[in-house]
Amino acid sequence: MDRCLKLERRTALRRIAGLAAGVFFLDVPALTGCSSGPTGDATVRLPLAGLPEGRRSNVVVSGLTVELVRDGSSVRARSLLCTHQGCTVRWDDAAQLYKCPCHKGTYDASGNVVSGAPTRPLDAYPFVIENGEVLVRPLPTKAS
Ligand code: FES
Repeated sequence: MDRCLKLERRTALRRIAGLAAGVFFLDVPALTGCSSGPTGDATVRLPLAGLPEGRRSNVVVSGLTVELVRDGSSVRARSLLCTHQGCTVRWDDAAQLYKCPCHKGTYDASGNVVSGAPTRPLDAYPFVIENGEVLVRPLPTKAS
């Protein structure tokens, strides 16, 4: 286990209490790109109050890392998997871009492709906010 992940877990445990079993929440500083946690197929629930305004935080939904950013009473839920070949992108705060380490693809803050091999934006995850909780749902499966 790397140092970054240990620090994230410690931070998450301090900040997030009372989450349902099987849900693991990581509070991830920008630029680290660290993410991990147990996997599960169910909708992820977490308290909206546990998401600091404007800060990037990661959760794992059906085994995939999803970045959450609170914006007032709403949330942005975005896949961190590059749409080219699925590498994990990292937010570069200085450049204000998501950067893919595999083939140098970049995305803007809205997840739209800026340069490189990707041809479509980062996926947005469906979510709802109910009774003070954010429920992030797995991406719908694509028909073949
Ligand atoms: Fe991201 Fe190729 S996997 S640019």
